[in-house]
Amino acid sequence: MKPISQMEPWIGLEERQAIVQYLDSGGWLTEFHKTREFEERIAEFVGSRYSVVVSNGTVSLAVALMALGVGEGDEVIVPDFTMLASATSVMLAGARPVFVDVERHSYCLDLDLAEAAITAKTRALMVVSMNGRSPDMTRAVELCTRRGLYLIEDAAQSLGSRFSDKQLGTWGHIGSFSFSAPKIITTGQGGALVTDDPVLDAKMRKIKDFGRRRAGEDFYETRGFNFKFTDLQAVIGLEQMKKLAWRVRRKKEMYKTYQTELAGADEVTFLPTDLEHVTPWFVDILVSDPAGLREHLKGCQIGSRPVYPALHSQPAFGLVGRFPNSEFVARHGLWLPSSSFLSDEDIRFVCQAIRTYFGRN
Ligand SMILES: Cc1ncc(COP(=O)(O)O)c(C=O)c1O
Repeated sequence: MKPISQMEPWIGLEERQAIVQYLDSGGWLTEFHKTREFEERIAEFVGSRYSVVVSNGTVSLAVALMALGVGEGDEVIVPDFTMLASATSVMLAGARPVFVDVERHSYCLDLDLAEAAITAKTRALMVVSMNGRSPDMTRAVELCTRRGLYLIEDAAQSLGSRFSDKQLGTWGHIGSFSFSAPKIITTGQGGALVTDDPVLDAKMRKIKDFGRRRAGEDFYETRGFNFKFTDLQAVIGLEQMKKLAWRVRRKKEMYKTYQTELAGADEVTFLPTDLEHVTPWFVDILVSDPAGLREHLKGCQIGSRPVYPALHSQPAFGLVGRFPNSEFVARHGLWLPSSSFLSDEDIRFVCQAIRTYFGRN
Protein backbone atom coordinates (compact mmCIF):
# COMPACT_ATOMS: atom_id res chain seq x y z
CA MET A 1 0.00 0.00 0.00
CA LYS A 2 1.42 3.41 -0.92
CA PRO A 3 1.65 6.10 1.78
CA ILE A 4 -1.65 7.84 2.50
CA SER A 5 -1.48 11.53 3.36
CA GLN A 6 -3.96 13.26 5.59
CA MET A 7 -4.97 15.47 2.67
CA GLU A 8 -3.92 16.19 -0.88
CA PRO A 9 -5.48 18.44 -3.51
CA TRP A 10 -6.96 16.66 -6.52
CA ILE A 11 -6.22 18.27 -9.87
CA GLY A 12 -7.13 16.22 -12.93
CA LEU A 13 -6.60 16.18 -16.66
CA GLU A 14 -9.53 18.58 -17.10
CA GLU A 15 -7.78 21.35 -15.16
CA ARG A 16 -4.53 20.74 -17.06
CA GLN A 17 -6.27 20.93 -20.43
CA ALA A 18 -8.21 24.03 -19.44
CA ILE A 19 -5.01 25.79 -18.35
CA VAL A 20 -3.25 25.00 -21.62
CA GLN A 21 -6.29 26.17 -23.59
CA TYR A 22 -6.40 29.38 -21.58
CA LEU A 23 -2.67 30.07 -22.02
CA ASP A 24 -3.00 29.39 -25.74
CA SER A 25 -5.82 31.93 -25.93
CA GLY A 26 -3.44 34.72 -24.89
CA GLY A 27 -5.20 35.58 -21.62
CA TRP A 28 -3.34 38.01 -19.35
CA LEU A 29 -3.52 35.72 -16.33
CA THR A 30 -4.86 38.53 -14.12
CA GLU A 31 -8.52 38.53 -13.12
CA PHE A 32 -10.98 39.13 -15.95
CA HIS A 33 -13.71 37.08 -17.69
CA LYS A 34 -12.75 33.71 -16.20
CA THR A 35 -12.82 35.20 -12.71
CA ARG A 36 -16.32 36.60 -13.33
CA GLU A 37 -17.45 33.21 -14.58
CA PHE A 38 -16.02 31.53 -11.48
CA GLU A 39 -17.85 34.05 -9.28
CA GLU A 40 -21.09 33.30 -11.12
CA ARG A 41 -20.69 29.54 -10.59
CA ILE A 42 -20.08 30.04 -6.85
CA ALA A 43 -23.10 32.33 -6.46
CA GLU A 44 -25.24 29.83 -8.40
CA PHE A 45 -24.05 26.92 -6.28
CA VAL A 46 -24.70 28.51 -2.89
CA GLY A 47 -27.78 30.43 -4.01
CA SER A 48 -26.53 33.96 -3.31
CA ARG A 49 -27.08 37.02 -5.52
CA TYR A 50 -23.42 38.04 -5.60
CA SER A 51 -19.99 36.52 -5.23
CA VAL A 52 -16.61 38.25 -5.15
CA VAL A 53 -13.43 36.20 -5.28
CA VAL A 54 -10.22 37.37 -3.63
CA SER A 55 -6.70 36.11 -2.97
CA ASN A 56 -7.50 33.82 -0.05
CA GLY A 57 -9.96 33.02 2.74
CA THR A 58 -8.15 35.24 5.25
CA VAL A 59 -8.24 38.54 3.41
CA SER A 60 -11.79 37.70 2.35
CA LEU A 61 -12.89 37.98 5.99
CA ALA A 62 -11.01 41.26 6.41
CA VAL A 63 -12.61 42.61 3.20
CA ALA A 64 -16.04 41.58 4.54
CA LEU A 65 -15.44 43.51 7.76
CA MET A 66 -14.05 46.54 5.93
CA ALA A 67 -17.08 46.61 3.62
CA LEU A 68 -19.34 46.56 6.68
CA GLY A 69 -17.37 49.45 8.19
CA VAL A 70 -16.04 47.39 11.09
CA GLY A 71 -12.58 48.53 12.19
CA GLU A 72 -10.69 50.52 14.78
CA GLY A 73 -12.29 50.52 18.24
CA ASP A 74 -14.73 47.73 17.33
CA GLU A 75 -15.00 44.21 18.70
CA VAL A 76 -15.90 41.11 16.75
CA ILE A 77 -16.91 37.91 18.53
CA VAL A 78 -15.11 34.83 17.19
CA PRO A 79 -15.06 31.22 18.39
CA ASP A 80 -12.01 30.09 20.37
CA PHE A 81 -11.84 26.86 18.39
CA THR A 82 -11.15 27.78 14.79
CA MET A 83 -8.31 28.34 12.38
CA LEU A 84 -6.16 31.32 13.33
CA ALA A 85 -7.28 33.37 10.32
CA SER A 86 -10.81 33.83 11.70
CA ALA A 87 -9.26 35.94 14.46
CA THR A 88 -6.35 37.60 12.67
CA SER A 89 -8.59 38.73 9.81
CA VAL A 90 -10.45 40.81 12.41
CA MET A 91 -7.12 42.37 13.42
CA LEU A 92 -6.26 42.98 9.76
CA ALA A 93 -9.43 45.05 9.53
CA GLY A 94 -8.26 47.01 12.61
CA ALA A 95 -10.80 45.58 15.08
CA ARG A 96 -10.34 43.31 18.12
CA PRO A 97 -11.34 39.65 18.15
CA VAL A 98 -13.13 38.57 21.34
CA PHE A 99 -12.89 34.83 21.90
CA VAL A 100 -15.92 32.85 23.02
CA ASP A 101 -16.12 29.12 23.76
CA VAL A 102 -17.77 26.64 21.40
CA GLU A 103 -20.74 24.29 21.87
CA ARG A 104 -19.88 20.75 22.88
CA HIS A 105 -22.08 19.17 20.20
CA SER A 106 -21.04 21.19 17.13
CA TYR A 107 -17.67 22.66 18.20
CA CYS A 108 -18.95 25.93 16.75
CA LEU A 109 -19.63 29.27 18.44
CA ASP A 110 -21.84 28.98 21.55
CA LEU A 111 -24.53 31.57 20.88
CA ASP A 112 -25.53 31.95 24.55
CA LEU A 113 -21.94 32.72 25.53
CA ALA A 114 -21.63 34.97 22.48
CA GLU A 115 -24.63 36.99 23.62
CA ALA A 116 -23.14 37.28 27.11
CA ALA A 117 -19.89 38.59 25.58
CA ILE A 118 -21.56 41.46 23.69
CA THR A 119 -20.38 44.91 24.80
CA ALA A 120 -21.05 48.43 23.59
CA LYS A 121 -18.11 47.96 21.21
CA THR A 122 -19.34 44.72 19.61
CA ARG A 123 -20.20 45.23 15.95
CA ALA A 124 -20.27 41.74 14.54
CA LEU A 125 -20.49 38.04 15.23
CA MET A 126 -18.26 35.73 13.20
CA VAL A 127 -19.80 32.28 13.06
CA VAL A 128 -17.30 29.71 11.82
CA SER A 129 -18.85 26.55 10.43
CA MET A 130 -16.19 24.07 11.43
CA ASN A 131 -15.99 21.18 9.02
CA GLY A 132 -19.48 21.85 7.67
CA ARG A 133 -21.15 21.94 11.09
CA SER A 134 -22.73 25.08 12.42
CA PRO A 135 -24.67 26.37 15.38
CA ASP A 136 -28.41 26.95 14.88
CA MET A 137 -28.17 29.59 12.15
CA THR A 138 -31.77 30.78 12.61
CA ARG A 139 -30.78 31.64 16.20
CA ALA A 140 -27.59 33.35 15.02
CA VAL A 141 -29.61 35.51 12.61
CA GLU A 142 -32.19 36.27 15.32
CA LEU A 143 -29.49 37.21 17.84
CA CYS A 144 -27.71 39.54 15.42
CA THR A 145 -30.97 41.17 14.34
CA ARG A 146 -32.11 41.66 17.95
CA ARG A 147 -28.75 43.08 19.10
CA GLY A 148 -28.07 45.12 15.95
CA LEU A 149 -24.92 43.22 14.94
CA TYR A 150 -23.54 42.12 11.61
CA LEU A 151 -23.38 38.39 11.01
CA ILE A 152 -20.32 37.20 9.12
CA GLU A 153 -19.96 33.55 8.26
CA ASP A 154 -16.50 32.10 8.01
CA ALA A 155 -17.52 29.11 5.91
CA ALA A 156 -13.94 28.51 4.68
CA GLN A 157 -14.35 24.76 5.25
CA SER A 158 -18.01 24.45 4.41
CA LEU A 159 -18.67 24.83 0.70
CA GLY A 160 -21.42 22.26 0.07
CA SER A 161 -22.80 22.16 3.62
CA ARG A 162 -26.20 23.40 4.69
CA PHE A 163 -28.03 24.34 7.83
CA SER A 164 -31.70 23.50 7.36
CA ASP A 165 -32.45 24.11 3.68
CA LYS A 166 -29.92 26.90 3.11
CA GLN A 167 -26.24 26.67 2.23
CA LEU A 168 -23.76 27.74 4.88
CA GLY A 169 -22.25 31.08 3.95
CA THR A 170 -25.62 32.51 2.91
CA TRP A 171 -27.16 33.08 6.35
CA GLY A 172 -25.31 36.23 7.34
CA HIS A 173 -24.69 39.63 5.79
CA ILE A 174 -21.56 38.19 4.14
CA GLY A 175 -20.22 34.65 3.90
CA SER A 176 -16.65 33.63 3.14
CA PHE A 177 -15.10 30.49 1.61
CA SER A 178 -11.52 29.35 1.09
CA PHE A 179 -9.98 27.50 -1.86
CA SER A 180 -6.62 26.72 -0.27
CA ALA A 181 -5.03 23.42 -1.26
CA PRO A 182 -6.73 21.11 1.28
CA LYS A 183 -10.28 22.42 0.73
CA ILE A 184 -13.05 20.45 -1.01
CA ILE A 185 -12.16 22.31 -4.20
CA THR A 186 -8.99 24.32 -4.63
CA THR A 187 -7.37 27.00 -6.74
CA GLY A 188 -4.10 26.75 -4.80
CA GLN A 189 -5.01 29.86 -2.86
CA GLY A 190 -8.27 31.75 -3.09
CA GLY A 191 -11.30 32.99 -1.24
CA ALA A 192 -14.87 33.87 -2.14
CA LEU A 193 -17.31 36.25 -0.51
CA VAL A 194 -21.04 35.89 -0.99
CA THR A 195 -23.84 38.31 -0.23
CA ASP A 196 -27.31 39.26 -1.38
CA ASP A 197 -26.65 42.97 -0.85
CA PRO A 198 -25.66 44.93 -4.01
CA VAL A 199 -24.08 47.72 -1.95
CA LEU A 200 -21.81 45.30 -0.09
CA ASP A 201 -20.95 43.55 -3.34
CA ALA A 202 -19.84 46.87 -4.89
CA LYS A 203 -17.86 47.85 -1.78
CA MET A 204 -16.05 44.52 -1.63
CA ARG A 205 -15.13 44.76 -5.32
CA LYS A 206 -13.66 48.19 -4.75
CA ILE A 207 -11.71 47.26 -1.63
CA LYS A 208 -10.01 44.35 -3.35
CA ASP A 209 -9.04 46.54 -6.34
CA PHE A 210 -7.15 49.39 -4.61
CA GLY A 211 -10.41 51.25 -3.94
CA ARG A 212 -10.54 52.32 -7.59
CA ARG A 213 -13.74 53.66 -9.10
CA ARG A 214 -13.15 51.54 -12.19
CA ALA A 215 -10.55 48.92 -13.00
CA GLY A 216 -7.52 50.50 -14.66
CA GLU A 217 -8.51 54.05 -13.64
CA ASP A 218 -6.42 55.57 -10.87
CA PHE A 219 -9.15 57.42 -9.07
CA TYR A 220 -9.41 56.08 -5.53
CA GLU A 221 -12.92 56.31 -4.17
CA THR A 222 -12.10 54.41 -1.00
CA ARG A 223 -9.05 52.95 0.74
CA GLY A 224 -8.40 49.69 -0.94
CA PHE A 225 -5.77 47.05 -1.43
CA ASN A 226 -4.73 44.47 -3.94
CA PHE A 227 -6.61 41.37 -2.84
CA LYS A 228 -7.43 40.26 -6.37
CA PHE A 229 -7.61 36.81 -7.88
CA THR A 230 -6.20 35.64 -11.21
CA ASP A 231 -7.88 34.20 -14.29
CA LEU A 232 -5.28 31.44 -14.19
CA GLN A 233 -6.70 30.29 -10.85
CA ALA A 234 -10.26 30.84 -12.06
CA VAL A 235 -9.66 28.43 -14.95
CA ILE A 236 -8.78 25.74 -12.39
CA GLY A 237 -11.65 26.80 -10.15
CA LEU A 238 -14.18 26.48 -12.97
CA GLU A 239 -13.12 22.87 -13.59
CA GLN A 240 -13.13 22.14 -9.86
CA MET A 241 -16.67 23.54 -9.56
CA LYS A 242 -17.86 20.94 -12.10
CA LYS A 243 -16.61 18.28 -9.69
CA LEU A 244 -18.05 19.79 -6.52
CA ALA A 245 -21.40 17.99 -6.42
CA TRP A 246 -19.65 14.63 -6.79
CA ARG A 247 -17.13 15.51 -4.08
CA VAL A 248 -19.91 16.56 -1.70
CA ARG A 249 -21.45 13.10 -2.13
CA ARG A 250 -18.10 11.34 -1.84
CA LYS A 251 -17.07 13.18 1.36
CA LYS A 252 -20.29 11.98 2.98
CA GLU A 253 -19.78 8.41 1.79
CA MET A 254 -16.20 8.45 3.06
CA TYR A 255 -17.30 9.67 6.47
CA LYS A 256 -19.91 6.88 6.63
CA THR A 257 -17.32 4.27 5.63
CA TYR A 258 -15.02 5.44 8.43
CA GLN A 259 -17.94 5.25 10.89
CA THR A 260 -18.86 1.74 9.78
CA GLU A 261 -15.29 0.43 9.81
CA LEU A 262 -14.61 1.85 13.28
CA ALA A 263 -17.97 0.94 14.78
CA GLY A 264 -16.39 -1.67 17.09
CA ALA A 265 -13.62 0.62 18.36
CA ASP A 266 -15.17 2.29 21.39
CA GLU A 267 -12.03 4.34 21.92
CA VAL A 268 -12.90 6.37 18.81
CA THR A 269 -15.69 8.95 19.02
CA PHE A 270 -17.15 10.64 15.97
CA LEU A 271 -18.47 14.15 16.40
CA PRO A 272 -22.23 14.40 16.00
CA THR A 273 -22.67 14.84 12.24
CA ASP A 274 -25.93 15.08 10.34
CA LEU A 275 -24.80 13.92 6.90
CA GLU A 276 -28.03 15.10 5.33
CA HIS A 277 -26.75 18.66 5.77
CA VAL A 278 -23.09 18.44 6.72
CA THR A 279 -20.32 17.69 4.22
CA PRO A 280 -17.32 16.83 6.39
CA TRP A 281 -14.31 18.26 4.61
CA PHE A 282 -12.00 16.38 6.98
CA VAL A 283 -12.86 13.19 8.86
CA ASP A 284 -12.48 14.24 12.49
CA ILE A 285 -12.45 11.94 15.51
CA LEU A 286 -11.93 12.31 19.23
CA VAL A 287 -9.57 9.93 21.05
CA SER A 288 -7.99 10.09 24.49
CA ASP A 289 -4.41 10.37 23.18
CA PRO A 290 -4.26 11.72 19.60
CA ALA A 291 -0.45 11.99 19.68
CA GLY A 292 -0.07 8.25 20.37
CA LEU A 293 -2.45 7.24 17.59
CA ARG A 294 -0.78 9.69 15.23
CA GLU A 295 2.62 8.15 15.88
CA HIS A 296 1.24 4.66 15.25
CA LEU A 297 -0.40 5.77 11.99
CA LYS A 298 2.83 7.43 10.91
CA GLY A 299 4.56 4.06 11.37
CA CYS A 300 1.97 2.60 8.96
CA GLN A 301 2.70 5.43 6.46
CA ILE A 302 -0.65 7.03 7.16
CA GLY A 303 -0.86 10.78 7.65
CA SER A 304 -3.11 12.45 10.21
CA ARG A 305 -3.22 15.94 11.67
CA PRO A 306 -4.00 17.32 15.11
CA VAL A 307 -7.01 19.63 15.04
CA TYR A 308 -6.55 23.35 15.75
CA PRO A 309 -5.42 24.50 19.19
CA ALA A 310 -7.66 26.60 21.45
CA LEU A 311 -6.74 30.00 20.03
CA HIS A 312 -6.71 32.00 23.28
CA SER A 313 -3.92 29.77 24.61
CA GLN A 314 -1.58 30.31 21.68
CA PRO A 315 1.50 32.52 22.11
CA ALA A 316 0.05 34.75 19.40
CA PHE A 317 -2.68 35.78 21.85
CA GLY A 318 -1.58 34.52 25.29
CA LEU A 319 -4.98 34.98 26.91
CA VAL A 320 -6.39 33.21 29.92
CA GLY A 321 -10.05 32.39 30.39
CA ARG A 322 -12.54 29.56 30.62
CA PHE A 323 -12.89 27.76 27.31
CA PRO A 324 -13.53 24.14 28.38
CA ASN A 325 -15.10 22.90 25.14
CA SER A 326 -12.54 24.48 22.91
CA GLU A 327 -9.76 23.03 25.07
CA PHE A 328 -11.41 19.60 25.06
CA VAL A 329 -11.66 19.33 21.28
CA ALA A 330 -8.15 20.74 20.83
CA ARG A 331 -6.81 18.11 23.25
CA HIS A 332 -8.65 15.11 21.81
CA GLY A 333 -9.32 15.85 18.15
CA LEU A 334 -7.54 14.25 15.21
CA TRP A 335 -8.07 14.59 11.47
CA LEU A 336 -7.82 11.32 9.54
CA PRO A 337 -6.97 10.91 5.83
CA SER A 338 -9.64 12.79 3.91
CA SER A 339 -8.56 13.36 0.30
CA SER A 340 -11.58 13.04 -1.99
CA PHE A 341 -9.74 10.50 -4.19
CA LEU A 342 -9.24 7.94 -1.38
CA SER A 343 -10.79 4.58 -2.24
CA ASP A 344 -12.88 2.50 0.15
CA GLU A 345 -9.91 0.13 0.27
CA ASP A 346 -7.64 2.99 1.43
CA ILE A 347 -10.14 3.89 4.15
CA ARG A 348 -10.41 0.26 5.28
CA PHE A 349 -6.60 0.11 5.49
CA VAL A 350 -6.55 3.25 7.70
CA CYS A 351 -9.33 1.88 9.92
CA GLN A 352 -7.56 -1.46 10.25
CA ALA A 353 -4.44 0.39 11.48
CA ILE A 354 -6.57 2.29 14.02
CA ARG A 355 -8.24 -0.90 15.24
CA THR A 356 -4.81 -2.55 15.62
CA TYR A 357 -3.62 0.41 17.73
CA PHE A 358 -6.52 -0.11 20.10
CA GLY A 359 -6.08 -3.92 20.10
CA ARG A 360 -9.44 -4.37 18.40
CA ASN A 361 -8.66 -7.01 15.78
C1 LIG B 1 -12.13 28.31 9.33
C2 LIG B 1 -11.09 28.93 8.45
N1 LIG B 1 -11.08 30.26 8.29
C3 LIG B 1 -10.19 30.87 7.49
C4 LIG B 1 -9.24 30.13 6.80
C5 LIG B 1 -8.22 30.85 5.98
O1 LIG B 1 -8.33 30.55 4.63
P1 LIG B 1 -7.06 30.73 3.66
O2 LIG B 1 -6.10 29.64 3.98
O3 LIG B 1 -7.65 30.60 2.29
O4 LIG B 1 -6.51 32.09 3.92
C6 LIG B 1 -9.21 28.74 6.93
C7 LIG B 1 -8.21 27.92 6.22
O5 LIG B 1 -8.03 26.74 6.47
C8 LIG B 1 -10.16 28.12 7.77
O6 LIG B 1 -10.19 26.78 7.93
